[in-house]
Amino acid sequence: MSPRIDDLFNLTGKTAVITGGSRGIGEMIAEGYIDAGASTVIITARKAEALQATADRLNAKGAGKVIAMPGDLSTPEGITAFADAVKAEVDAIDILVNNAGAAWGAPLGEYPVDGWDKVMNVNVRSIYFLTQELVDHLRGAGTEDDPARVINVGSVDGLRACDIEHYAYSTSKAAVHHLTRQLAKRLKHENVRVNAIAPGPFESNMMAFALRDEEARAAVAADVPVGRIGNPDDMAGLTIFLASKAGAYLTGVTIPVGGGIATAD
Ligand SMILES: NC(=O)c1ccc[n+]([C@@H]2O[C@H](COP(=O)([O-])OP(=O)(O)OC[C@H]3O[C@@H](n4cnc5c(N)ncnc54)[C@H](OP(=O)(O)O)[C@@H]3O)[C@@H](O)[C@H]2O)c1
Repeated sequence: MSPRIDDLFNLTGKTAVITGGSRGIGEMIAEGYIDAGASTVIITARKAEALQATADRLNAKGAGKVIAMPGDLSTPEGITAFADAVKAEVDAIDILVNNAGAAWGAPLGEYPVDGWDKVMNVNVRSIYFLTQELVDHLRGAGTEDDPARVINVGSVDGLRACDIEHYAYSTSKAAVHHLTRQLAKRLKHENVRVNAIAPGPFESNMMAFALRDEEARAAVAADVPVGRIGNPDDMAGLTIFLASKAGAYLTGVTIPVGGGIATAD
């Protein structure tokens, strides 16, 4: 590979914080960042044992250091406690990936208030307040040539009206996309870029109900314009791009990564 291309897509020496890094999409991103040379990747989730197991697996690769830092981002206290722990560990943050999320489905007429609040608090409120807590560490890491990055995980369901009745979820994801633009505008002169990704179906706990067997999996794949679900390379490729020098000129965008859902259907 030419040195120029290596330089463009390299995360050597970078410090990243990834919420929801214990499994699914967050784990795919954490592994991609370690493979791209990141020196420190802090991952968080509520279940400490599973989080540590993921950190152990990635640390066994012998590349950068993955630190498991358990936390609950559904409450303001949990967000502050996690942010304090991060700030005690590192002086600057090059990449913040706001990935942790929750879903809740129920028919119109039966959707519960507590389900609505749970989804909104994890999917939207935590992104804003965690970013607010860590923004000085991002400002401290960013330079004009290589700004710090915030990557928010939205969804194709925030780009279109979908068939599944998960009202708070799809609404929360549209809010994530808009919050991304709002923060990008506020931080445009401060060497912090803020972008979002909008995934289609990827293998994860959240999608386990829809990918439970071969028949269900085939039905999900058939609904994707390109005919398959997303894989770890699809997720790592896009998020390495957004975090690396190659993505330095993007801010305020939401990039769909869903095999054509909401873009070619
Ligand atoms: N998979 C897909 O097809 C798909 C499509 C579009 C968008 N997305 C989005 O991608 C993101 C990741 O989802 P996923 O599919 O990978 O789901 P997942 O397998 O359920 O992973 C969710 C992650 O978030 C953590 N988490 C959940 N609630 C948390 C809280 N209150 N505090 C801290 N961490 C919390 C989970 O760990 P604990 O349970 O231990 O806390 C886990 O690490 C979500 O924002 C989701 O909406 C996924």
